[in-house]
Amino acid sequence: MPVTPTPPGFRKLALVVHGTGAPDDLLNEVLSVRGFGPVVMVASLVELTAQLRTRVPSLVIVPVPPGGAGSEFASFQQELRRHPGTAAIGTSPSKDADTVLAAMRAGIPEFLVSPIDRLELEVALSRLLSHGTASQQHGQLFTVYTAKGGLGASTLALSLAWALAHLPSRPSVALVDFSTTGAGVRVMLDLKPLYDLGSVASRADRLDREFLRSVMVKHEQGVHVLAAADELDAGDPMSVEAAGRLLELLRQEHTYVVVDTDHHFGDQTIAALDAADRILLLTQLDVSALRSTQRTLGVFARLGYPETKVNVVVNRQSERDAIPAADAERVIGRRIDFKLPNDYASCADAITYGRFVQEQAPATAPVVTAVARMAATLTGNLDAAAGDRGARSQGSRLSRLFGRG
Ligand SMILES: Nc1ncnc2c1ncn2[C@@H]1O[C@H](COP(=O)(O)OP(=O)(O)OP(=O)(O)O)[C@@H](O)[C@H]1O
Ligand SMILES: [Mg+2]
Repeated sequence: MPVTPTPPGFRKLALVVHGTGAPDDLLNEVLSVRGFGPVVMVASLVELTAQLRTRVPSLVIVPVPPGGAGSEFASFQQELRRHPGTAAIGTSPSKDADTVLAAMRAGIPEFLVSPIDRLELEVALSRLLSHGTASQQHGQLFTVYTAKGGLGASTLALSLAWALAHLPSRPSVALVDFSTTGAGVRVMLDLKPLYDLGSVASRADRLDREFLRSVMVKHEQGVHVLAAADELDAGDPMSVEAAGRLLELLRQEHTYVVVDTDHHFGDQTIAALDAADRILLLTQLDVSALRSTQRTLGVFARLGYPETKVNVVVNRQSERDAIPAADAERVIGRRIDFKLPNDYASCADAITYGRFVQEQAPATAPVVTAVARMAATLTGNLDAAAGDRGARSQGSRLSRLFGRG
């Protein structure tokens, strides 16, 4: 069976729990020809579960307890579900039906009796790796765009990614920083990633999912992050085609992809807007922001984007806004879909400490609850009509406050 070679420098990661009945040298021999780096042995299932919170291996090999019993196996199973791209092999000294069934229920498609036979291992790996284990999902892609700098696009991209990753189903979420100015994810989350968009751009003609898996950083808060290229060694930005291919690969790997963009229509921005299932067009209730929003909506229309592809999001809404929301809707000729409150304390603190807003601020903070509601609405986890009713009653309250309506 042909094996796709992995580019040098980007070896696939295999995490193997001690006691699976496969000697290290056999594993290394069989896996190295399939593009894996040296096998990483972990002491226990508990240790593997902990590792899965921050690493995304291509393969895990685990001992399955009799009948899949025990809380340790249950926790592992829960964590494995968040890794749709990770192949798994289960082992056990006997092949009793309950244990095999428990492995299958846990999302472990291959089962081997220990001590492991070389040929059986080869066959299992061929089946797993050639067909790919990731379900051919097609994740939903959200692009955050604003024509004017400093309105909070990056803050929204980050907090939305966090909120999506914390939906009840705990989906896999990627956050991609296509912005070349402003703080960006690198600064806002205080990351010093080994690889970034620059590494991706330099291999734009040879992108694949394995490569992307090795360059993304899995943040301890559960979001998979691809930072913008470091300003100092930023090469050329990616072409529309290459950036589009990158986003397509990411949505095959993740349930949701959130992209932060520049405030002008460069190639990467166009690719992210084109690829988006939903564009979140950020604005503010002041004349200058609304003007640029109006112009942007015109450009979107000329680009042929249907109205349903675009959601207008007002950020930093407060009672001191120069223009009431209802007036703003008339000016831009569109309804405002989401309103995020002005919450200076939560947002400023998050940047200062290099954390997600939700990590830093209390769960009851105005911006935290608003973004959670937005994530739920965008993904159909909240009755959209209820969200709409909420927004409208808020609008009319606002109108009353301003003596309009
Ligand atoms: N809802 C909010 N309430 C209060 N402050 C906010 C809110 N959203 C963003 N901010 C603050 O606004 C400032 C700009 O935010 P951010 O960097 O996210 O904007 P941006 O549009 O990405 O800017 P840039 O053009 O620099 O990329 C930050 O100080 C941030 O903390
Ligand atoms: Mg920004």
